[in-house]
Amino acid sequence: MSILEQLEELKTQAVTELDAIDDPKQLDLWRVQYMGKKSRLNEVLRGLAALSIEEKKTVGATANQLKLELESALKEKELSLGEKVISAKGEDAIDISLPGRKPPLGQLHPISQVIDEMCKIFVSMGFQAVEGPEVEWDYYNFDMLNIPKEHPARDNMQTLWVDYENEKGERPMLLRTHTSPMQVRVMEKIKPPLRIVVPGKVYRYEAIDATHIPMFTQIEGLAVDKGITLADLKGTLYEFARRYFGSDRKARFRCDFFPFVEPGVEMSIECIVCKGAGCRLCSNSGWLEILGAGMVHPRVLEGVGIDSTVYSGFAFGMGIERIPMLRYGIDDIRLFYGGDLRFLRQF
Ligand code: FA5
Repeated sequence: MSILEQLEELKTQAVTELDAIDDPKQLDLWRVQYMGKKSRLNEVLRGLAALSIEEKKTVGATANQLKLELESALKEKELSLGEKVISAKGEDAIDISLPGRKPPLGQLHPISQVIDEMCKIFVSMGFQAVEGPEVEWDYYNFDMLNIPKEHPARDNMQTLWVDYENEKGERPMLLRTHTSPMQVRVMEKIKPPLRIVVPGKVYRYEAIDATHIPMFTQIEGLAVDKGITLADLKGTLYEFARRYFGSDRKARFRCDFFPFVEPGVEMSIECIVCKGAGCRLCSNSGWLEILGAGMVHPRVLEGVGIDSTVYSGFAFGMGIERIPMLRYGIDDIRLFYGGDLRFLRQF
């Protein structure tokens, strides 16, 4: 008898025997006999190496096919016998007093949780939370923020441009490099007095390290009204720092430059890891910069038709990932997006 004929006979025999089984305990014996290590089928599979290439092709394919068929026949039988066992025992077979199996539940990402918490703090101070587009026009991201085409400030924000050309042959579409374009979009629609915060993702073509990643989150703040001064900006941000980090954490303001504010400042928070002594997180400075801010530049106000001799405003743009890093002592920003559940489940 050829090997193929032997396999055919084996199949008939195995299927007939499996059909006759009505006790689940016998299934294991059947599996060992027809699919186990010492089964005839396994012997054929092991002997393939000794066959000619032509034989290998036909015998190999038939033996593997048989293996698959036997596996699925066994699974089907196990299922049908399982059902039989439950129905044979009647209703008592399901013990309803046993605790149910909990489906695995997800949770909000830590950064989403921080955004919620920050928005609550600012909303309680009279701000409204709004969102804006992540794919933005050059016009809003730079031009309307007093950063003309040739301005060197564009180089600070390594931009990811969208491969789209307009009829003039320009490429004016980009992934927003900051949330500041929303200052303009909001002021175009809402006239002062206004107070808004804008959380959202921003993108920069930047080298990655413990405090920098190419996709991160910012929250923009903007308040425009009659008589707003730098003292209002400092008061609002100190209050935020006190509510989020506690009253004993040090915060400091220093001069900075952004073309869309005058004067401009940056705010840093004392490093939680080294308490100001210097470490990897704070690049040995003892402080971590969390935001840029300042008084809205008159040119930005005039650009959207707001009279800068009547109204003034402050604006800030905070890096959100750095906020929980400073609260919990997380020394590497990449942990937020590494997908390691051991880290994420702690929040
Ligand atoms: C800006 O983006 C300005 N739009 C901020 C601003 C708004 C100034 C309104 C004035 C008025 P800057 O590039 O410094 O500024 O970024 C702001 C904050 O984002 C930084 O303080 C930092 O906390 C965070 N940040 C910047 N780059 C990264 C990065 N690659 N990864 C993580 N966080 C970053």
